[in-house]
Amino acid sequence: MTEKINRTKIAVLVSGGGTNLQALLDAAATGKIPHGEIVTVISDKAGAYALERAKNSGINAVLCDKKAFPSKEDFEAAVLDELTGAGAELIVLAGFLSILSEDFVKRYPRRIVNVHPSLIPSFCGDGFYGLRVHEAALARGVKLTGATVHFVDEITDGGEIIMQKAVRVLSGDTAEVLQKRVMKQAEHIILPKAVELTAKEISAKK
Ligand code: GAR
Repeated sequence: MTEKINRTKIAVLVSGGGTNLQALLDAAATGKIPHGEIVTVISDKAGAYALERAKNSGINAVLCDKKAFPSKEDFEAAVLDELTGAGAELIVLAGFLSILSEDFVKRYPRRIVNVHPSLIPSFCGDGFYGLRVHEAALARGVKLTGATVHFVDEITDGGEIIMQKAVRVLSGDTAEVLQKRVMKQAEHIILPKAVELTAKEISAKK
């Protein structure tokens, strides 16, 4: 008899294009996240294409437009409501560019993971997000960069590292070219793997 898997309910938080979300949706659709189930996608930004990607896969897509709330507390309360309503047990920050408060992250110890487009501890922390990370890597002249998936705690990009993958910087790279290579060769590969690993750990404890 095959063992029944108690799948971990996953919420994915996004802000933009959602290529990392797509990598997760594709991995889920091809059986690569057997211990997890993506139950909802939440965007903090109106017009984020990631929401369309969720809808195209038949996943619940919710907008909690940060700009529409009077305060960060109100915004986070709305996100928490959505997470609770969806029964989320694991939260994946996939290109989610809001920094979550200490109060928020303390509610989900080792239950929030983030993908960051560098080899932490290089080019991370406050102010390092999106293209800025790759601009900083090029300005410093590193020959190797990459991506990191880590647990989220109260220190920006400071939580325990789950997985990393290195990517070569090539001469003539622009930040845009480097960003695409890091996404394709690292982020989109390690994020689904790290999510499955974490979902498996959570489902084993249930
Ligand atoms: C990705 O490169 C992700 O690592 C980065 O934003 C991009 C979002 O792309 N996140 C951060 O910089 C967080 N500090 P996507 O919307 O296509 O996944």
